[in-house]
Amino acid sequence: MNTERIISNTEDFVKETLINAEGGHDWFHILRVWNTAKLISKDENVNGFVVELGALLHDIADSKFHAGDETIGPKIAREFLESQLVDDSIIIHIENIISNISFKSSLPADRGGNFKQKFNSRELEVIQDADRLDAIGAVGIARTFNYGGSKNRPLYNPEISPNLNQSKEAYKNSEAPTINHFYEKLLLLKDRMNTKTGKKIAEERHLFMETFLQQFYKEWEGKL
Ligand code: ADP
Ligand code: NI
Repeated sequence: MNTERIISNTEDFVKETLINAEGGHDWFHILRVWNTAKLISKDENVNGFVVELGALLHDIADSKFHAGDETIGPKIAREFLESQLVDDSIIIHIENIISNISFKSSLPADRGGNFKQKFNSRELEVIQDADRLDAIGAVGIARTFNYGGSKNRPLYNPEISPNLNQSKEAYKNSEAPTINHFYEKLLLLKDRMNTKTGKKIAEERHLFMETFLQQFYKEWEGKL
């Protein structure tokens, strides 16, 4: 396998596939995650080829943009990687990464608390950290309001409190104000990082979000 060639073909394939993607889940999100995953990998004992392919393909067909279908991402990735003659053991690893990277997949499937069987590998953990880092800090804030805007959600409503015990279904179908998403996900990510490098970067981005929220409420309440 010519791994460099495959990575470059994967880059082209992902860019083309995500051409009309929502601003927070577009090629530039993939590029940031790819770069951050490479950075985190420097201090980790991982298969760099798997990390790069996984980072590039992790949002190739996000279920929330495909009528909730969680099988389509791994399927598209497999078809593409087969066309590149990638070893089947690596394809299986990439399918598992795509199916398990999401914050949603760590939520209970229903209120009874049926946790989905979770695949794990250090390569998945590195990509998951890179993806989570892109959800917090300044870029994370921008992405969150862009996503909320794309769903026509209000910025904030003091009468609607965040819900920290949502099932996976409720989380996906939420129509809550975008500020609630900070409490339901973004502020929780710092304590869920898998790697040392990830934790370190997350600390700073977390503080920035706290400052942002303080300023937001101050302005909202008209405290000049
Ligand atoms: P995951 O793939 O880990 O489940 P998502 O793809 O749902 O994460 O979320 C990625 C980013 O999309 C979030 O960090 C946020 O910026 C935005 N987003 C997702 N769901 C919401 C939401 N309900 N409100 C606002 N932003 C959201
Ligand atoms: Ni992502």
